[in-house]
Parts: sequence; structure tokens; C-alpha cells
Amino acid sequence: MITKEKIKSNDNSTEKNIATPFAGRYSTAVIPRMEIPTKGVAAKIAYRVIHDQLLLDGRPDLNLSSFVTTWMEPEAEQLIQENLNKNFIDHFQYPQTQIIEGRCVNILAKLFHAPEENNYAGTSTIGSSEAIMLGLLAHKWKWKKHREQQGKSTTNPNIIFGAEAHVCVNKFAKYFDVEPRIVPMSQNDYVLRAEEISKYIDENTICVALIVGTTYTGQVDPIGEVNDLLVKLNKENGWDIGIHIDGASGAFVMCFAFPDIKWDFRYERVRSINTSGHKYGLVYPGIGWLIFRDIEDLASEIIFHVNYLGQTENSYTLNFSKPASGVIAQYYNFIRLGSEGYKSIMESILENAQYLSKQITASGKFKLLEAKTILPIVTFQLVKDEGFTIFDVSYKMKEKGWIISAYNLPPHAENVYMLRVVVRENFTHLSANIFMKDLLEVYEALSKENKTMIGNPHMDKTKSSANAC
Ligand SMILES: Cc1ncc(COP(=O)(O)O)c(C=O)c1O
Repeated sequence: MITKEKIKSNDNSTEKNIATPFAGRYSTAVIPRMEIPTKGVAAKIAYRVIHDQLLLDGRPDLNLSSFVTTWMEPEAEQLIQENLNKNFIDHFQYPQTQIIEGRCVNILAKLFHAPEENNYAGTSTIGSSEAIMLGLLAHKWKWKKHREQQGKSTTNPNIIFGAEAHVCVNKFAKYFDVEPRIVPMSQNDYVLRAEEISKYIDENTICVALIVGTTYTGQVDPIGEVNDLLVKLNKENGWDIGIHIDGASGAFVMCFAFPDIKWDFRYERVRSINTSGHKYGLVYPGIGWLIFRDIEDLASEIIFHVNYLGQTENSYTLNFSKPASGVIAQYYNFIRLGSEGYKSIMESILENAQYLSKQITASGKFKLLEAKTILPIVTFQLVKDEGFTIFDVSYKMKEKGWIISAYNLPPHAENVYMLRVVVRENFTHLSANIFMKDLLEVYEALSKENKTMIGNPHMDKTKSSANAC
């Protein structure tokens, strides 16, 4: 969402037109900044002007803040290019694409251990956010139907999730009129505990949303404990409350690096799982997945049947049109890598995350956040207060090209501040070595800067916060 005011302040220039690059060597055409030009320009010029402007963006491969894939093989890029112009939803015209989506859903359902005897189901989405909205909506409808069958009110649904949940879970609650029951974090525990859930749950709870790989710390909610609690409460009260797993970042890692750890449909109460193909599914942005344990978990009323594309299609999506390329690229990875290939990549990413973690600890200047995670997310803090903050560190690392997140945790743990590195496939030992060298240089520079500031009564030091480490 962007307002007129924001557009103006972002695109902060008094010039009416976009400056012609390279002193007019390519063109002297006038391109207005804020209006569509009356006459277009040659393709080469349009390309050059936009390409040069985008050079001022950060470098995706140095963006350690993002979970999203920044590199794919040329053959995958070729397939993406070839399929960008196919509208995925048009199954009648592009039946092969739909067949490939089906294979991907089947592969994921099996990886997530959907019981073979079940009629499992699933869909591709544009990312995990769409998948989460659809998954939770299915829980809402399932709850509604169950209540109707019992002749009970359906007016006050609620959903339970931890404060560590991604914003899209909260968005779901707002957009789809469900009361969010957010379990706060505690000072040194950042996942959703079963005993806490007991305090929030009642007959109007549509489901509990749990996370495999939280955005804040990369930790995994205790799915087994919550499953057991729900089995017990459902039995005692005649409820049918299930679990939705947000495996946006963690599902692919778990499947291949830790196949023996249970987190998925092996727990009976887990009814739906989402993941982002564009995170550790190793595909460029624009692909997510939602898998249901059984089609019974998805009320038939919310599946739409449309006939304007040449045949009747079943549609359970929030958006309609999208390029087919995401689905194709996911399938490319499945057959290109196989489970052995994925396993080897996940293990290598985890090893690189371990390597970086060790170096951070060895530096003596930074320490790892005491939050055990098995995912390749490295969160760390300043060891002591040197008069600058993690935000200063993050800001100064940007000068060296690195993008790292700096933030504090949600309420009840809001005085816990951290930096976060998401280790992806392209981050090697060499990257870790250079990153550490830069991090320590930044640390020294900030310490010196701060000493200069302390010695200079005219400098404002209020920007730094003692807590912010
Ligand atoms: C735990 C979690 N859930 C959901 C999302 C949203 O995923 P997407 O960007 O694929 O919509 C993210 C994004 O980072 C996430 O970390």
C-alpha cells in the first residue's frame, strides 16, 4: 500500500523528468517521472533507464535478511522464461501445467506424511501468505459446519497463535473476522507452549496455528505437545480443533535434513500445512504450497466452480491469474535435485550456519541468542554495551553491501534485541569469513566513533540505547 504522500517522499526529486543517462549518448527523449509519457521510447532506452535505476537497489545475494531464493540454475531460468506468459489458472488451455501442479502436490503430501489412505489435497499459491489465509479459512469453515451440526452458534470464532507468528496470521484474523487470541512470548521462551494454549482455547477456537521456523528466531513450536493437548481436549469436550502448520521457512529443511523428526501429518491433529517454495524450496519468488491432510478438511462451500475458461474449473485461491512459471520451477527442482540433492543442499546450508555461529561466538564481541533452533537461522546480540546499538551495526553493514535484519521481539520479550542472518545456499564458508571480517570492522568503527562522541560534548549520543543488544 502506498499513498500519494509516500510516493512523493520516496521519489524525492524536484525534477519533473527522469534524467537522461550518460549525457544523452543513448537518447535525449524526455521521460516524465510521475505521468505516462505521451510518446514511448525505444526498447533499448526504456531498458537502460530502468536497469540503471535498479542498480541502486541492494544486492539480492548479499541480502541475509531474506528467506527468499536468490539463485537458480540457468536451465530453471529458461523454463521460467518460457512459462511466464502462461496463465496458470487456465487449466483447459494449459493442461500439462495442471498435471505438473498435481505431481508437486502429491510429492509434498508424501513428504509431509499425509496418510496414504486419505484423499489428501492441495494447491499452489503465490506464497505462504496466500496459503496461510486459505488454510485457516478452511479451518474456520470446518469449525462452522461442526457447530451447525451441533445446533450451536457460529458467531464468535477465534484462532490461537503465538506472538512469534508471521503477520499474515494476524492479517487472516482481521480480514476474515476471527478473534485473534495471541499468546505472548515470555522473557526467555519464544515459542508457543501447550500449557499456555489451555488458557486460551474454548469451543469457538477454529484451530491452533503453529510454526516450523519462526520469522524471529527460526525456532519450531512444540507440535507434539500441542497435538496431544488437542487430542485430549477434543475428546473431553466433543470439539474437533485441528492444527495448521506454517512451514513457510522450515518445512523443506525438516523434510530433507531431519526426516526422523515429527512435525507434520504424522501428528493426527495436523490438518493443513503451508510452505514457501520460494524459500528453502529453492525457487525464485512467487510460489507457495498448501496441503490438506484430507479433502474432508476443506468445506465444499468454499471451493468455487467457474466455467469461463473453456471447461469447469475448481478454484480455491485468493488471486486468480498468475504465471505458471513458479509451479514449473518447483517441479524442475524436484526432478533435478531429487531427495538426495535437496538433502545435500540442506545439510550444506546447515553446516554453513554452524560455521558462522561458531565464528560469531569466537569473536567475543557478539553472542548467539539463547534460543535453540535446528534451522539455518543465526540470531545474535552484542556481548556488552559499547554505546551503540544493533541497529547501528545493521546500518553500517549496509555500507559494505550486507543486508542483515535488526529487531526486537514482540511484547513480553520486547527488550530482547537481535541481529539475524538467514543462511541460504549461496552463503559459503568464504562468505562467512568475509562477513565476519566486515562485521568486526563495523564493530571497531562504531566503538571508535562512539568514543569520539563521548569525548565531544556537542555530539548527540541519545540515538544509542543501552538495552538494544
Ligand atoms: C514463518 C513465516 N510465515 C509466513 C511467511 C510469509 O511467507 P511468504 O513471503 O511466502 O508469503 C514468512 C515469510 O518470511 C514466514 O517467515
